[in-house]
Amino acid sequence: MWTMPKMTFCLILLSYNALFAKAYLLPRADPPFQTVPETATTPDNHFNIPGVPQLKGKPADTSDPVPAVYGVRSVDIPFALLNYGNLKLFTPGQLNSPGSYTDVWAPGVDDYANQSACGIPDNAFWPSKVAIHPYWLKYAPANLGLSRYCMQDVCISVWNQDNDDYGAGDDVMLKVTDICSTNPADPTYCATPADIKIDRIKADLLFINERENLTAADNSSLENGAEYPEKVYWFFTKCWDDGLAQPAYNTTKNWFTNPALPNNQKWSEDTLTEQYQNNVAGYPAANLPPYADGAYAKGAKRQAAIFDYNKYWQIGDPDPKWCPVA
Ligand SMILES: *[C@@H]1O[C@H](CO)[C@@H](O)[C@H](O)[C@H]1NC(C)=O
Ligand SMILES: *[C@@H]1O[C@H](CO)[C@@H](O)[C@H](O)[C@H]1NC(C)=O
Ligand SMILES: *[C@@H]1O[C@H](CO)[C@@H](O)[C@H](O)[C@H]1NC(C)=O
Ligand SMILES: *[C@@H]1O[C@H](CO)[C@@H](O)[C@H](O)[C@H]1NC(C)=O
Repeated sequence: MWTMPKMTFCLILLSYNALFAKAYLLPRADPPFQTVPETATTPDNHFNIPGVPQLKGKPADTSDPVPAVYGVRSVDIPFALLNYGNLKLFTPGQLNSPGSYTDVWAPGVDDYANQSACGIPDNAFWPSKVAIHPYWLKYAPANLGLSRYCMQDVCISVWNQDNDDYGAGDDVMLKVTDICSTNPADPTYCATPADIKIDRIKADLLFINERENLTAADNSSLENGAEYPEKVYWFFTKCWDDGLAQPAYNTTKNWFTNPALPNNQKWSEDTLTEQYQNNVAGYPAANLPPYADGAYAKGAKRQAAIFDYNKYWQIGDPDPKWCPVA
């Protein structure tokens, strides 16, 4: 949840960033980006018949063409960069309803843009929302900042640590919608760039095939803790499956689902690889750190691919400045 107050402050901040940011500018040959509004629209959500929420994804459609705005660019955020960090959990009640572990999916109910830094109502990506550490903002083009991460193609694939073979049932997809607090006074804060914060229902799904072997500490963290006791692997990826919006919100009236992104696994994997290769070539000129392709890596290769953020970030480094979207 973001707490930054005044829009005017944000406009000044954005102009400041545009003038002085060292971040890279975009070459003209790249496709345009998805349009993200600069101010909140009213109403801030649109949904169709509530229907049944999508919990574990939909059948993949590998044939639908994907709009150019979600395509590969000469340089982009670090797709396929692998992290190994803590799994923080949103406080019960932060998913719309005041209350419990089992927050109910109810489109249009307590459903506002101000629930996430991206200006995306929580119900739209229930329960797949993820908050990232502000460190990652330095990888966004200067004129976009947080907006780049809010676009519909930016997801995170998270894997529980026992799954070295990437078998079924031990990974989930998350949509970036928020920025983590970095304040240690908040028990759910992201202490390092490798930490992410997710909904506890989704965390429960991540361990669904291992429930009988979970410890008491694992179980109690899932129910009401601020952090899962064991670390997880995760990498930035192109969205598909349960990283897509709830079907009820898939309308062109919502900026965050416009234009529609088909559920296309092949596209996700192909563009991920292609974007990784472009980033390898483009990061030095953009002044960004090199990284290995950690997507779907196994065993020793996976261990070697983990991004060593300590080389580029220290505790106490100031967070990049950012403003909530919309
Ligand atoms: C979020 O927006 C809703 C609807 O405009 C408003 O009622 C609520 O108070 C806002 N919450 C915060 C934390 O600003
Ligand atoms: C639980 O642990 C036991 C003993 O290590 C193992 O045989 C079993 O396969 C595990 N169950 C699951 C669901 O992982
Ligand atoms: C954790 O919860 C699962 C059910 O979700 C149960 O099977 C398991 O025994 C619990 N672990 C402990 C140590 O109580
Ligand atoms: C979203 O809606 C569009 C237009 O109706 C449709 O083509 C697309 O398949 C839908 N996407 C998903 C993931 O449901």
